[in-house]
Amino acid sequence: MMLTYLIYSLLPVLTGASIVLIGYFLVLWIYRLSLHPLAKYPGPFSYKLTNWPLVLQAYHGNRHLHHLRDHAKYGPIVRIGPNTLSFNTETALNAIYGGKKVNVRKTGMYITLDAGSGALSTHTEIDKEKHAYRRRVLSYAFSDNALRSAEPLILHNVEIFCSAIAPKEKHQWSEKKNMSLWCSWLGFDIMGDLAFGERFKCIESEEHRYTAGTTITGSKFLYWFSYLPCAWVTRRIITSRLMEVLAGQTAADFMHLMNYAEEKVQRKIEAEGFAKKESKEVRKDTMHYILESKDPETGESLTDKELAADSVLLITAGSDTVSTSLAASFFYFLRNPNVLKRVTAEVRSTFTSTEDIHSGPKLNSCVYLQACMEEVLRVAPPVPSHLPREVLSGGLNVDGHHILAGTIVGVPAYSIHLNKDYFPDPWSFRPERWIVDPKTGVTAESVELATRAFCPFSLGTRGCIGKFLAYLEFKLTMAHVLYRFDMREAPGENLGGGGPDLEEGRQRQNEFQMDDAFGVMRNGPLVEFMSV
Ligand code: HEM
Ligand SMILES: *[C@@H]1O[C@H](CO)[C@@H](O)[C@H](O)[C@H]1NC(C)=O
Repeated sequence: MMLTYLIYSLLPVLTGASIVLIGYFLVLWIYRLSLHPLAKYPGPFSYKLTNWPLVLQAYHGNRHLHHLRDHAKYGPIVRIGPNTLSFNTETALNAIYGGKKVNVRKTGMYITLDAGSGALSTHTEIDKEKHAYRRRVLSYAFSDNALRSAEPLILHNVEIFCSAIAPKEKHQWSEKKNMSLWCSWLGFDIMGDLAFGERFKCIESEEHRYTAGTTITGSKFLYWFSYLPCAWVTRRIITSRLMEVLAGQTAADFMHLMNYAEEKVQRKIEAEGFAKKESKEVRKDTMHYILESKDPETGESLTDKELAADSVLLITAGSDTVSTSLAASFFYFLRNPNVLKRVTAEVRSTFTSTEDIHSGPKLNSCVYLQACMEEVLRVAPPVPSHLPREVLSGGLNVDGHHILAGTIVGVPAYSIHLNKDYFPDPWSFRPERWIVDPKTGVTAESVELATRAFCPFSLGTRGCIGKFLAYLEFKLTMAHVLYRFDMREAPGENLGGGGPDLEEGRQRQNEFQMDDAFGVMRNGPLVEFMSV
C-alpha cells in the first residue's frame, strides 16, 4: 500500500524531471547544431552532438582510423566533437603546436591522465609556466652529456637483446620471435636502466614482463577514461577500488605500474644518498640528472610525488614508443625486401665489427637507416591521434579561420602522415622519399615539405623531449641487428598486417596494424634470425 502510494505521489516529480532532462538535451543539441561557433564546420552528425563517439573510439583503439576516414570524407577541417576541431594540413600543424608563443595549452584530459599519481608529470602539466619549469628540470636528463652517458647502457641492453634473439646453431634459423613482445622488453629494459639505474631484465626473465605489459594496458584504460565527461568526478574515483570493479584489469594494471614506479624512485633516492655518503661514484642515469637538477631560476627541485609522476612518464613515454617503432620496422623491412637489402648493405659496408657500432660519424653516415626510421615513424606513428589543445583567450588563427577561445584543436599524426599532398603515394613504404636524389626524383623541396608535415614527436615546447634518445636507441638497435643477422618472417606466418576480415581501415595487408591507446598496442611480426 505504502509503496504504491509513494510511487504514485512521486510520479509527477519523476515525469517532470525527465521532461526537464530531455528538454535540456534537446536545447543543447539544437544549439550545438545551429548557433554554436563550430556549427559551420563539417563532420559526422553524432560528433556534433556529443563527445561520446570520441570516448568509444579511444576505447576501441581505432581513433586514428576514424581521423583518417573523416578527413578523407569531410576535408582538411573536421568537427570531431561538439567543441573540437581536427585539422589535416602542415600549416595548421605549425599554427597549433609550433613555437613558444602559440596561444593554446593542453586540455584538461591530460590532468585526468595523471590524476592517479597525486602530482602532474612534465607531460600532463597544463599550466604553461609550471610546465616550463618542469621541462627545464627534465632537460638536464636529455642533454648531450646525459645522452653520452646513456649510450653504454643502451649498448649493453642491445647486446643482451642480440644474444637472446640469436639462433643456437650457426647456419640455422632461430625459433620465431614475436617482435612486438621482444621490442617491448628491450624498450622497457633500456628505460629501466636509464631511469632507475636498474635493469628490469625482461629479456632474460619472466619476472618483470608483466609490469612491462602494464605500460600499455594501463595507458589503454587511461585513454578513454580521460575523455569521459564530468572530469571532476572521474578524477576523484580514478584511484579508488571502485575503479578496479568498473574498469577491471586495465585499471588494476595502471595502479600496479604507479606503485612500481614509486618504489623504484624511493630505491633510487636511497642509492644516490648512500653513494654520496660513501663518496662513491654514482651512475649517471636519467633519474640521477633529475634528482640533481634544480630550476636555474628558482633553485627548487621536484617533490617525491612529482618524481614518481615523471618516472612513470619516462618508462611509458620512453619504452612503448621506441618499441612500437622497432616492431614496425621489422614488419616493414620484411614486407619490403628491397628496403631490407639496401639498409643491410649500408650497415654492413659502414662498420667493420660489432664493437665499431656506436654513435659517431659512421652511424651518422648511415643515411638510409635514418630514412628508414623516418619512414617507419611516418606510416606507424607511435602516438597516432589528435593531441588536444585548448585555444586561450584572444583566439587562434588556423588556415585563415579565427578559432575562438575555449575551442579544442589538433592535428592527428596518422592522418597528416598519410596525406598525399605531402607524401605522394602515401601507402607505399619508401625511405627514399626522405633522401634528395636526382635518380629517384626526390628534390630538396619535396623533402622540406614532407618534413614540415612530419610530426611523430609532435613539435614545439610540448613536443617530445626524448626525440634524440629515441633516434639513438633505434639506430643502435637496428644497426646491431642488421649487422649480425639475416632475418625472415616465420614461414606460414603473417602476423601484424591488415586483412579482409578486419574492421574498416584495416584491410591493407602490408600495413602494420596499431591499436591506438594514446600509445599503441600491436602484434607481431613473427621473425626468425640467422647469424651471419
Ligand atoms: C619513437 C619514439 C618516440 C615518439 C614517437 C614520441 C612521441 C612523443 C609525442 C607525440 C609527444 C607529445 C605528446 C602530447 O602532446 O601529448 C611526446 C612527449 C614526450 N616524450 Fe616522447 N616519443 C618518443 C620517445 C620518447 C623517449 C625515448 C622519451 C624519454 C625517455 C620520451 C619522453 C617524452 C616526454 C617526457 C614527453 C613530454 C614532453 C613535454 O610535455 O614537455 N619520448 N613524445
Ligand atoms: C605478440 O605480442 C603481442 C603483445 O605485444 C600479443 O598481444 C600477441 O598476442 C602476441 N602474439 C603471439 C602470436 O604470440
